[in-house]
Amino acid sequence: MSAMVSLLFHLLCCLTVFWLLPLPSHSADPDPLQDFCVANLSASISVNGFPCKPASEVTSDDFFFDGFTQEGNTTNAFSSFLTPGNVLSFPGLNTLGISMNRVDFAPGGINPPHSHPRASEVGVVIEGKLLVGFVTTNNVYYSKVLTAGHMFAIPRGLVHFQLNVGDGKALAYTAFNSHLPGAAIVPLNLFASSIPNEVLTKTFQVDADLINTIKSKFRS
Ligand code: GLV
Ligand code: MN
Repeated sequence: MSAMVSLLFHLLCCLTVFWLLPLPSHSADPDPLQDFCVANLSASISVNGFPCKPASEVTSDDFFFDGFTQEGNTTNAFSSFLTPGNVLSFPGLNTLGISMNRVDFAPGGINPPHSHPRASEVGVVIEGKLLVGFVTTNNVYYSKVLTAGHMFAIPRGLVHFQLNVGDGKALAYTAFNSHLPGAAIVPLNLFASSIPNEVLTKTFQVDADLINTIKSKFRS
């Protein structure tokens, strides 16, 4: 009988663990534990997020952000500019699990293939014509050409891009279920980092000259 009780107890423990394990993966950032926690970006302690500014020092300005009023300067190699509205530029977002970007494109501009390790993305095109695409972990490619008012969704962690395929400028706003989604920009990760050439020549099965040519495009 006691063996039976012990077996049932173990079974119950296992079921509890299996029930609890997937819970953290159902959300992106953890839920806040207070009304707000305006980030103190200069705090010397480091936590998973940012410590809160004392509530007595919080003002209305902490909850408003005017960083999207200016068009981004698209005079660069990608002919696009991304203005982030995340916890680093807008500390009032700390712990809220949300953020946005403004993305400006000159004609032909590209927001190059990248992924967000901590968030799914949605976006809406405000102006122009964008080819928006992403690739699954099985290398299946999904894409569509969007114009003003059209919305898109990019599942968390998948590599995606937007390319301006219209004749004029384009503008999109994107939103994330993280206060700091992070962005791994594929060409910069590979060719502007210190990954050794040997890794890149073997990965892409090309010679070092070609790798150096590509790297030279990303040297500032
Ligand atoms: C677009 O892909 C963005 O990350 O804002
Ligand atoms: Mn993105």
